[in-house]
Amino acid sequence: MTEPILRIRNLSAVSDLERGTSILRGVDLELAPGETLGLVGESGAGKSTIAKALLGVLPHTVRVTQGEIIFDGQNLRTLPQRALRQIFGDVITLIPQDPLTALNPGRRIELQLTDGLRVRRNMTWRQARQRAIKLLDEVHITDPERVMRSYPHELSGGMRQRVLIAAAFALEPKLIIADEPTTALDVTVQKQILRLIRGLQEAHRTAVVFVTHDLGVVAQICDRVTLLFAGTVIEAGTTAELLETPTHPYTKALIAAGPRYDQPGVGLTPVPDDIIKALRADIVASDGRSHA
Ligand SMILES: Nc1ncnc2c1ncn2[C@@H]1O[C@H](COP(=O)(O)OP(=O)(O)OP(=O)(O)O)[C@@H](O)[C@H]1O
Ligand SMILES: [Mg+2]
Repeated sequence: MTEPILRIRNLSAVSDLERGTSILRGVDLELAPGETLGLVGESGAGKSTIAKALLGVLPHTVRVTQGEIIFDGQNLRTLPQRALRQIFGDVITLIPQDPLTALNPGRRIELQLTDGLRVRRNMTWRQARQRAIKLLDEVHITDPERVMRSYPHELSGGMRQRVLIAAAFALEPKLIIADEPTTALDVTVQKQILRLIRGLQEAHRTAVVFVTHDLGVVAQICDRVTLLFAGTVIEAGTTAELLETPTHPYTKALIAAGPRYDQPGVGLTPVPDDIIKALRADIVASDGRSHA
């Protein structure tokens, strides 16, 4: 791999809500510039926790206990607040899960798209507006002027998600975090949105961490995959390696249990109980060893 834009090393976190339960257990991952990494796992695996750590929005009840998050050569865990403010929401941005709640209901799209360009890129109102229209065009919105004048509730779910994708790419970030960005959309719109994100990511050579519980989504847009279970990396590799020649029994079971992964939109099918039990026992045993 070329020099990674993101390298997470041995990242561990505990939940103070659950009496110090481990939610990340020594997670390692790497992402090269211009690549899409799928972060996959069942509910509670720790996907969003990693995403939030990358965006600097971890809740106070989650405590990182060890590890490094090296982004563009700097450890985000030790950078001063001032430096972090120039990274989060600027060089690292988010495509959120729910397009309605992520937009401010009381402000026209125009304002929401131009704020960042004016504040963070010192553009004039006119420059920011031109850039916003170009961005809406890039996300295949055919009547950008109308959308600019609209309030979020006047747009469909798919349109709102396109606006948020435009917003995520607006500042030309180096890394975009997409946390299940299509789960709130119906299957046909999902496919269009995935294609759109992939197209923009390739055109802008942006690195993307794509959180999903859907191997179909992984097959469609990810270059690499990291599979998590209970905060532990189970298997990682290129998408082809992981889907076609999985080595871990859990990965094999996931692929075997699921519908064909060339059909995005179905999600993870539960794997047999005995495999889950063995995996949990393994993880608990290694927790015991690491605390010894
Ligand atoms: N605000 C919080 N404070 C403390 N612990 C939390 C908090 N949010 C989530 N957790 C815990 O962290 C663990 C991982 O949760 P996380 O949200 O990262 O999982 P996920 O893989 O994103 O799951 P999902 O597919 O349901 O979104 C869970 O055990 C959860 O209970
Ligand atoms: Mg999540």
